[in-house]
Amino acid sequence: MADYDSIDFFTDPAIVNDTPNYLAHLRGKCPVLREPHHGAFMVTGYAEAMEVFNKQGEVFSSSVAVTGPVPPLPFAPHGDVREQLHEHRGEMPWTDHLATMDAPEHGGNRALLTQLLTHSRLKANEDYVRGLVVHLVDGLIDRGGCEITKDFAHALSTLVIADLLGVPEDDRQGLIEELGLPPTQMGDAGHKAQSDPLQHLHPRFRTYLEDRLAHPRGDMMSELVHSTYRDGSKPSLLMLTRLASFLFGAGQDTSARLVAFSFRVLGDNPEIQRKLRANPERIPDFIEEVLRAENPVKCLSRLALTDTTVGGVDVPAGSILTINVGGANRDPRHFADPDSFDFDRPGVRDHISFSRGTHACIGAPLARMEVRVALEQFLSRTSDIRISEARHGPREARRYAYEPTYLLQGLQELHVEWDKA
Ligand code: HEM
Repeated sequence: MADYDSIDFFTDPAIVNDTPNYLAHLRGKCPVLREPHHGAFMVTGYAEAMEVFNKQGEVFSSSVAVTGPVPPLPFAPHGDVREQLHEHRGEMPWTDHLATMDAPEHGGNRALLTQLLTHSRLKANEDYVRGLVVHLVDGLIDRGGCEITKDFAHALSTLVIADLLGVPEDDRQGLIEELGLPPTQMGDAGHKAQSDPLQHLHPRFRTYLEDRLAHPRGDMMSELVHSTYRDGSKPSLLMLTRLASFLFGAGQDTSARLVAFSFRVLGDNPEIQRKLRANPERIPDFIEEVLRAENPVKCLSRLALTDTTVGGVDVPAGSILTINVGGANRDPRHFADPDSFDFDRPGVRDHISFSRGTHACIGAPLARMEVRVALEQFLSRTSDIRISEARHGPREARRYAYEPTYLLQGLQELHVEWDKA
């Protein structure tokens, strides 16, 4: 067994292929435990994660949401840290973006995006997504198999968010390349102190938004550029550029990771495939259980603004707390038999894979729809989906490589094979 006590969750590549066991080890010691490498409080319990979500704003700041304790805070905390945070926010990674904002800035800017991703827009977009999935599956089905992350999942999630936003077709590939690797690569120091790591995408997004100001179309950027805050004031072009570029980044690969995990579960479970082919209306519950068991976002970090407690453990002001999504999603005090995959379980949507509270994922309905449409199509056009044994080994000893980041959880590759229906 690995020496989990000496492993650094945030920098040790050994952990990426073994996260569930590491989290089970931590939870076994305490659902709130201070790890020794960065002094972060690791939360692995479900009730304790909820406690943190419920104290968001008053007690916890999202300023460290993306990178957690790496790098350390740019100030030595003393007492209530609100003033210090205010003074140093600009030196912290990602703090120009929505995910790390706090009230009141956060609420106003979040509302600009939530009013774009409405139920009716998603409903209208579903036909486009279905057409896209059919087109992608048409191109793959006769091959009898593929590497699902690159051949299908990434193409799907990129095209969907690019189309919704209104990114021109000719620019999409270039933008993905410019987006580069996700943040929080193990051992990467490069991403660390930029308050806006997406700045290099600004020229393109600014041009799109300026174009939509003069020539509105039906896309989200056209609406965004004409939007106002609740008090009627206009957001700056810089803020709109940041929101559009963040949405493009956030909508990219998280859904793709969920597609790949769904295929992995299907490929190992012919009986689940049979059940879903016979009852496609159960696909949404299946997706919820994949989200619980295989969370595409690994951790959510918060900064304690004042002295507080979580799960009865003292958390001093200035501490960074990291909610381990996979830990909470497998907490046996909340989910019975948490290591078994069971989409009939009560409370199948209780997982925290889209977070909770004021920062909960605004793309969740879109992600759920994309993945549902993809699975409906693949399941109806195949009679059997299998994991490639040549690539991943036999069922009892599968080999998978995960992306080397501490924020995100994703398979680097997933080779599957199928029989056509
Ligand atoms: C399976 C797919 C996805 C997963 C698992 C996921 C997960 C998450 C999580 C856990 C958060 C909250 C972080 C926190 O509390 O600190 C979040 C925030 C966010 N997500 Fe997603 N996401 C997914 C897909 C998407 C998509 C498709 C979009 C875009 C359309 C999107 C846009 C956003 C945005 C804008 C935020 C920031 C919300 C805020 O801070 O107020 N996500 N996501």
